[in-house]
Amino acid sequence: MKIEKIEFLGSFTSIDRCPKWILPEIALIGRSNVGKSTFINFLTNQKNLAKTSSTPGKTRQINYFRIDNRWYLVDLPGYGYAKLNATERKKINHLIHDYLLYRKGLTLLFLLIDARHPALPIDLEMCNFLGENNIPFSLILTKTDKLSKIGLQKNIKLLERNLSQHWEPLPNIFTVSSLKKTGREEVLSYIEEVISTLR
Ligand code: GTP
Ligand code: MG
Repeated sequence: MKIEKIEFLGSFTSIDRCPKWILPEIALIGRSNVGKSTFINFLTNQKNLAKTSSTPGKTRQINYFRIDNRWYLVDLPGYGYAKLNATERKKINHLIHDYLLYRKGLTLLFLLIDARHPALPIDLEMCNFLGENNIPFSLILTKTDKLSKIGLQKNIKLLERNLSQHWEPLPNIFTVSSLKKTGREEVLSYIEEVISTLR
């Protein structure tokens, strides 16, 4: 798929404020600092479309991008940022859960997991939350440049073993590096495949 027109529609603090106009939504969730915003920039081939930071907790709102007047790309705040106070953490978790449970346009959800840490309890918790609420998702392993090929294969196996205790069939697993610019085409083709079946 080729992306031609990208519009930033805004940052929203509740799902009631999100765009009323319905288009299929492709959303990204994951632990804070896993690389969601960086991946959005890589996917759309933009330098600073989504704000990124080496300090976790950069994205605190729901950010909407309209792609080719055809679909929305949605950047969600990261979960599990330890330094937030309890009220802020609650607010963010509430926003994420609200979005996942009630946003009608949600068409495809990518859960991003750091390829180096395939079995963090907080990520498995999110997988379980999605499972319990019948929300299908695909996985994207990020920062694969930080691992050897063998290390990556080992971690994929570990992740699959963990997931297979609760999931059948297993979710799709994509591997990307926004730094080395790998894995983009596979994700884009999958998005295209899903969107085109909606028509
Ligand atoms: P929150 O907004 O806090 O939820 O974080 P986020 O998931 O949006 O993470 P963000 O994209 O801001 O990236 C966090 C850090 O990881 C930044 O320092 C990025 O440069 C780095 N990073 C992101 N993707 C990659 C990657 O593919 N490889 C490497 N080596 N670093 C990456
Ligand atoms: Mg972010």
